[in-house]
Amino acid sequence: MDKNGIRIVATGRALPKNFISNDDLSKIVETNDEWITTRTGIKTRYKCEEGESCVTLATEAAKKAIEKADISKDEIGGVIVATSTPDDALPSVACMVQRALGLRENILAFDISAACTGFLYELGIAKGLLYSTAAKYLLVIGSEQLSRIVDYTDRGTCILFGDGAGAAILCADEKEYDQLFWARGQRELLYCSGVGAKEQKISMKGTDVFKFAVVVLKQGIDEILAKNNMTMDDVDCVLCHQANERIIRHVQKKYPGHEDKFYMNLARYGNTSAASIPIALDEVFEAGILKEKMRLLCVGFGAGMTWSSALLEI
Ligand code: UT7
Repeated sequence: MDKNGIRIVATGRALPKNFISNDDLSKIVETNDEWITTRTGIKTRYKCEEGESCVTLATEAAKKAIEKADISKDEIGGVIVATSTPDDALPSVACMVQRALGLRENILAFDISAACTGFLYELGIAKGLLYSTAAKYLLVIGSEQLSRIVDYTDRGTCILFGDGAGAAILCADEKEYDQLFWARGQRELLYCSGVGAKEQKISMKGTDVFKFAVVVLKQGIDEILAKNNMTMDDVDCVLCHQANERIIRHVQKKYPGHEDKFYMNLARYGNTSAASIPIALDEVFEAGILKEKMRLLCVGFGAGMTWSSALLEI
């Protein structure tokens, strides 16, 4: 495996102040706590209120990561934000984070669009930049204000999505690293219109996305392990995109004896798209589940359709 890897120096997460419970949703659409819990595992999801947005969440998560990394913000050589819900079409969220944090001006700052796979795509981009530019540290963020594009009359989607952000400071290091990426142009399963559209709301064929997810998550895991002559025995922790607890359980079952390695936090956050893996990453570090020298497997999927898997030494 490639030893020109990346080190996750520190992570941070940010959530809005308020959350919506399943009972709250049952007052808006015809649903109930029992249905949502058994079909998705979700109990609450956060929702931005006045003054909170993709930019403010990204900034707060980044601030926490920088504090934990114990580095000077002047050492940060670039900011990348993965999001499907930027505050504005332009400027980018990354530029607003650069300004809010008072980062240097002679750095790159840009957003990427890969839906829920965004944070994993960022890892690959960051790796390339860390070995090809003078940047010592890069700040990568997944931030979403999905409540802006959720249709709260559609019980098939509004129960799933939540707002939040996760951030990581990365640097180049002689650590094991490998990653696979996929993209398949397909609008039918998961779609939201863009700039200039009258109304921007997510539309989703939930059952089809579910079927797609369980196939590609397993593919992502199996192919990255096979490529590196490894099995699940060689992995300490698996972070799947937190889309639906049932999806993760389905995948988990394919690796008997390794169920405990699959982390889940869906009950509290729902699906926060590009923020889901970095939020989970911050939690596994905080809980001491993930420690130095361990091997982490991240696997995610999202609209596009996009998917990716990454093996990282911590
Ligand atoms: O980041 C990636 C994005 N998306 C995903 O990962 C989504 C993946 N898909 C899913 O998580 C699941 O497909 C859902 C949770 C969205 C839906 O679960 P499902 O088991 O696939 O349900 P379904 O769509 O097949 O619907 C079953 C029934 C239907 O009623 P009928 O036709 O059988 O009478 C729905 O109308 O459940 C009904 N239903 C609901 N009932 C109560 C759908 N949503 C709800 C609801 N509350 N919120």
